[in-house]
Amino acid sequence: MCGIVGYSGLKPVRQVLTDGLASLEYRGYDSAGVALWENDAVTVIRQQGRLSKLVERLGLMHEQSRCGIGHTRWATHGQPSEVNAHPHRQGRVTLVHNGIIENYLQLREELEKKGYHFQTQTDTEIAAALIDSCYTGSPLEAIRKACAGMEGAYAFAILFDGHPNCVYGVRLGSPLVAAVDETGAYLASDLAAILPYTDRYLLPEEGELLALENGRLTCYDSDLQPMEPVWKQAHWSVEQAQKEGYRYFMEKEIHEQPQALRRTISPRIEDGLPTFGVDGLPAGFFQKIRRLYITACGTALYCGMVGKALIEKIARLPVEVEVASEFRYRDPILEPDSAAVIISQSGETADSLAALRLLKARGIPVIAIVNVVGSSIAREADYCLYTYAGPEIAVATTKAYSVQVAMMYLIAILAAGERQVVDQEQQRRLIEGLEEAVELTPKVLAMKEEIRSYARGLRDTESMFYIGRGLDYSLALEGSLKLKEISYIHAEAYAAGELKHGTLALVTPHTPVVALATQPELLSKTVSNMREVMARGGPVLALVTEDLEIDAGACDQRITIPGKGGIFAPLLVVIVLQMIGFYAAEERGCDVDKPRNLAKSVTVE
Ligand code: F6R
Repeated sequence: MCGIVGYSGLKPVRQVLTDGLASLEYRGYDSAGVALWENDAVTVIRQQGRLSKLVERLGLMHEQSRCGIGHTRWATHGQPSEVNAHPHRQGRVTLVHNGIIENYLQLREELEKKGYHFQTQTDTEIAAALIDSCYTGSPLEAIRKACAGMEGAYAFAILFDGHPNCVYGVRLGSPLVAAVDETGAYLASDLAAILPYTDRYLLPEEGELLALENGRLTCYDSDLQPMEPVWKQAHWSVEQAQKEGYRYFMEKEIHEQPQALRRTISPRIEDGLPTFGVDGLPAGFFQKIRRLYITACGTALYCGMVGKALIEKIARLPVEVEVASEFRYRDPILEPDSAAVIISQSGETADSLAALRLLKARGIPVIAIVNVVGSSIAREADYCLYTYAGPEIAVATTKAYSVQVAMMYLIAILAAGERQVVDQEQQRRLIEGLEEAVELTPKVLAMKEEIRSYARGLRDTESMFYIGRGLDYSLALEGSLKLKEISYIHAEAYAAGELKHGTLALVTPHTPVVALATQPELLSKTVSNMREVMARGGPVLALVTEDLEIDAGACDQRITIPGKGGIFAPLLVVIVLQMIGFYAAEERGCDVDKPRNLAKSVTVE
């Protein structure tokens, strides 16, 4: 949700900013802009559309500048036009912003009374004016005072007239990282922009301030006292954040799933049994828990649904799964002796973070399952189980989902043992089942030509359905989301038995249906639902594991998933679903990694 970057040092800043923005473009790509210190004045250059247009416009100019800020936008307030593009300037203040200032209309009124005029519909221009109105010579004082009047979420990089070669930074609810190398000081929305220079970074706490002054970085606490930075070490490399020969990040990330799964699972298995010892989750945590709440957004929510099915089945622990944006405003009734799990790749999703805060305020212990180290959700949860997917750049998540699902298996098997629903031998067998499924994932990746050939046939499709029962239904939801977000084909997921209660009316020979049939105990029921579709002329693709038989008349086409049907099939089925989405989008000429209207990290409500 917007990416910001800032630099002060010895290098030409134009390159540092545009390189940084290129690695943050997944956060939004409606417009891009920079503000540069040149000859003791600030020059602002903004451009609607992708960063490449801004780079073209900058050309070889502004080579002398050594300090500046940059922004890549995902529009919230105001259309994605040049005038609404960041940086915004008011009085002596120029800034870029990631987040939303919720009380901006009220602030706008107050500032207009003070004589400010606004050119844009953005909340960011109001923030610039507010900071300017608080400015009496000290940038840090002005920022601190202005922030006290702002409600919402923000990470700012700010330039003040009269303070050449200085960038100031502050955050609340939006991410910000900072670093130094031998040439100068950096700040950015995330590590990807900084990794090419250094793997040592710091994460300012909310309310702390950063000053990048002539290449030096100073951190200040909320009383504006300089403080010793707490350095962290990055575990991701620049190479991991590059395409490495693949045409798209999404394609690369789909192919990285076997390694990502092994990296995530193996540190959590000791002597064939699951453990979260490496994560600091106390042994016996699930022993006394009577109910588990899982809350998340989008794909992470669908992972939560898989988790519910697994945890209830294997550990007999009741689980409630809810969309974070609903949960947070529902005043939920939470039972004593319960615990919660928040699932988030980015660890910054605003609704998931708010749900976490609500749960903690109500005294419910929260386990976070997060991919981005040091992110807000990871930091605020009582326990954080990191997934080791590595950096995920494509907007549509793939490998991060698979490793989240792997965590669901581990939680289910661990909880089953702690609750004495299964004995150690059964736990070991379940872990073996999980490991066997992971070892089969390369086989699914090798089926790409078969999957691509099906996806090619979707070129002119306008609408389609994904159906399944039980675990297959949760997977159907993920499959349909993957397809629609990157190929723009309308897709809906249905519990297979529910189709006939109305939606079957939409099935025609032009409405392909992907039927997931990997759960042996539900197979005959799903097959009946496939037949209902076939009888209405709907073309059915069946995704069936190799051990399961279905009669030829139940589908037009079958893709056989390696391995056995049952609880571990999701790890294999999802790869087929991801590839259907990917190849359909590619066939339709879509920008696979950067689908329209979306951004990777959703730090607004
Ligand atoms: C879909 C997708 C989104 C995210 C959702 C939550 O491919 O990526 O639906 O799953 O925005 O994001 P995180 O996991 O970062 O909280």
